[in-house]
Amino acid sequence: MAKTIAICNQKGGVGKTITAQNLSTYLAIEKKKTLLIDLDPQSNATSGLGINKRSVVKTIYQVLQEQIALEDIIIPTQIENLSLAPSGLNLTGAEVELVNTMSREYRLKRPVDKIQDKFDYIIIDCPPSLGLLTVNALTAAGSVLIPVQCEYYALEGLSQLMNTINLIRDNLNTALKVEGVLLTMADYRTNLTKEVIEEVKKFFGEKVYNTIIPRSVKLTEAPGFGKPIALYDKSSIGAIAYYNLAKEVMGGAVELSLGGREASEAISDGGIVSAPSVLRNDNDIVTEPEGQNG
Ligand SMILES: Nc1ncnc2c1ncn2[C@@H]1O[C@H](COP(=O)(O)OP(=O)(O)OP(=O)(O)O)[C@@H](O)[C@H]1O
Ligand SMILES: [Mg+2]
Repeated sequence: MAKTIAICNQKGGVGKTITAQNLSTYLAIEKKKTLLIDLDPQSNATSGLGINKRSVVKTIYQVLQEQIALEDIIIPTQIENLSLAPSGLNLTGAEVELVNTMSREYRLKRPVDKIQDKFDYIIIDCPPSLGLLTVNALTAAGSVLIPVQCEYYALEGLSQLMNTINLIRDNLNTALKVEGVLLTMADYRTNLTKEVIEEVKKFFGEKVYNTIIPRSVKLTEAPGFGKPIALYDKSSIGAIAYYNLAKEVMGGAVELSLGGREASEAISDGGIVSAPSVLRNDNDIVTEPEGQNG
């Protein structure tokens, strides 16, 4: 039985897609059979893995329309053990088109249930809304991972998200849990980051992951090259952070506690063990350490 995790926050640009991609990649590197479902019409998870969204013919849209089986749209990626159910431009219409269909909230759950045995983890990248696509993701998932960006108004919208999760739990998916809350884009040089971390911990307590994702230029560059961070720069601070997150999600101990500054210093010292590389495409791996600001 796969563990299905929806990466969800209706706020835009908080790091859902980067998290979905890099968490999936490191789960796959840890030999877990992983499926990443791109449920966002923006298709960033698809293109970030080097797949041209305009060239994909079979997408999650047709699965939601019950035209095609989920199994039939799944494609392999550059990373062994990581498969992708791509999104495409036509998904934009799905939200509206599904409104008047039968059992519209279960359009993802049924196909996902059918492929449970084939994967260890199924990660769903949600769009920035609480519309029908996200409702489908939360109905199909066992748990939600909520990325929260370390910025002003970080907590804004989170009560609405929690209300939605509770509504889904009461009506559509009684088993739904909060998997964890992930702080993203932390910049330890600022008081704001420290304040947000404190606030989020007050609000979510134990649910907050020990791993905090630092702000890292390398993380933003990687999707432009169609690569997860593990292939783009496996020893960057962002790579190590997402590797640690994967460990935490798998229930293991986090090997390195990562504070942005300490981490980059440790890396410049050569004192840090890098996250493991992947192995389909080792030639592509850039191993240059990331700078202080990276
Ligand atoms: N740790 C990070 N450090 C620096 N930049 C980051 C980090 N995480 C994400 N970003 C950048 O922030 C932007 C938003 O990230 P991402 O696309 O993952 O967010 P999202 O929540 O999926 O956005 P959307 O709501 O539009 O789907 C991107 O430009 C990404 O490169
Ligand atoms: Mg996104």
